[in-house]
Amino acid sequence: MTIVIFGGAGDLAHRKLLPALYNLHVDGLLPPRIAIVGVGRRPMTDEAYRAFARDGVEKFSRRPIDAPAWEAFAAALFFGIADLDAPEGLAPLGARLDIVEHERGLNGDRIYYLAIPPTLFQPTVKQLARSRFVPPSDGRRARVIVEKPIGHDLASARAINEAIAEVFDEREIYRIDHYLGKETVQNILVMRFANSIFEPLFNQKYVDHVQITVAEEEGVGTRAGYYDEAGALRDMVQNHILQLLAMVAMEPPHSLDADVIRDERLEVLQSLRRLEGEDVDANVVRAQYTAGFIAGKAVPGYREEKGVKPASRTETYVALRVCIDNWRWAGVPFFLRTGKRLPKRASEISVHLKEVPPILFNADPSARLDPSVLSIRIQPDEGFSLGINSKVPGPNVQVYPVKMDFHYGSTFGGTSPEAYERLLLDVIAGDATLFMRRDAVEAAWQWVKPILERLEERGDKGLATYPAGEWGPEAGEQLIESTGRRWLAP
Ligand code: BG6
Repeated sequence: MTIVIFGGAGDLAHRKLLPALYNLHVDGLLPPRIAIVGVGRRPMTDEAYRAFARDGVEKFSRRPIDAPAWEAFAAALFFGIADLDAPEGLAPLGARLDIVEHERGLNGDRIYYLAIPPTLFQPTVKQLARSRFVPPSDGRRARVIVEKPIGHDLASARAINEAIAEVFDEREIYRIDHYLGKETVQNILVMRFANSIFEPLFNQKYVDHVQITVAEEEGVGTRAGYYDEAGALRDMVQNHILQLLAMVAMEPPHSLDADVIRDERLEVLQSLRRLEGEDVDANVVRAQYTAGFIAGKAVPGYREEKGVKPASRTETYVALRVCIDNWRWAGVPFFLRTGKRLPKRASEISVHLKEVPPILFNADPSARLDPSVLSIRIQPDEGFSLGINSKVPGPNVQVYPVKMDFHYGSTFGGTSPEAYERLLLDVIAGDATLFMRRDAVEAAWQWVKPILERLEERGDKGLATYPAGEWGPEAGEQLIESTGRRWLAP
């Protein structure tokens, strides 16, 4: 197997891909014969590329460098050059790959990883076809991994999907949503369908509402160029949060087959109630952070960040109330929120069960019992907990909310594999379960489209602010409190 990383000298390769491949190597999970070829526009020697990879592993790998393991891994790393603008721009790369594959006894099965800006997706796949990398010659396989963002809106996502489909068959296309690679996200299905306690409760009869929070402490960092054009709705909701929603809300699949699971996730996206026009004003809150404090340290506001337009209207926080119009979830609101520069990094899904009837222990209207909550902690401190009411020991009947808590760290020890490890391994194995199918990407954009249009139309109107280090704007609290509920503090 040869893994060809377009954007091989870029940030994603440095921070995520090379460290993930190194960890897979240490775990003995990579195929015994492999070449990993970084591709870039500027020349680099193999030695320099290995040093670049080593630096990434030293800084970002979950495991430290182990000298013998590193040496074997480094021997599989190479660098090749490509010029996407020239008609024969992939010819030198082709020659390089042939030599590397020949020397390492590889059969020419390849994975092309597009770790490049989306504007380069189309030219790159076109070049792959023009230079006859794809379709590969007899019996060999060619797969392609596409990173987000897949488009800026429905039309551009369709154009990208169309261009890739001209070259690769859908079964060979692996669209990454790295949230699906997180252990805790995969565990949602196990929790729901490998235990008989939860699934019977997951419906409108027992669930009052569901919250999904993806909070980040980080600001926009060095990615202002991209982020200022995207905003929280495109960057986090259209993909990651809708996928989390699909995992909690989907019907039980009839098998673990990739397409069966993906069909069920798609059904959820297709059942989302459309928000448009004034519905958007009533159900979507967006805001931008202003200067504030994170962990006691002063940080600038979004508009003061390097690379952000001084009058930018891009939202760094968004909260939504959404409904799934199907039999299971009719009438159950789902509250979603995400933001940068919130007080801490915490991603959590909480399923809030209905109140017990106002009798017996819940008879006192001034002291209602807390309804049970199932919290799934995606990160950090991965695990889940179930809040239940219990009797305080003593002669009086006093009820107190307690938690049954499961922590990955203390139960299984060690660190969980990074999402990219799992995802790369799945592409090597040809398992597409944790990847986005074309119809799902487009269904998500289809749902987001009228929201984006309304926000665009309203311009500055309705764009709130919140000081960095706080849980978003007042309007975000109002969105849920106006329904008599409250955000659960992660
Ligand atoms: C990315 C977004 O997809 O996910 C980033 O583009 C965001 O803006 C990141 O910070 C969050 O990922 P994680 O795994 O750190 O929660």
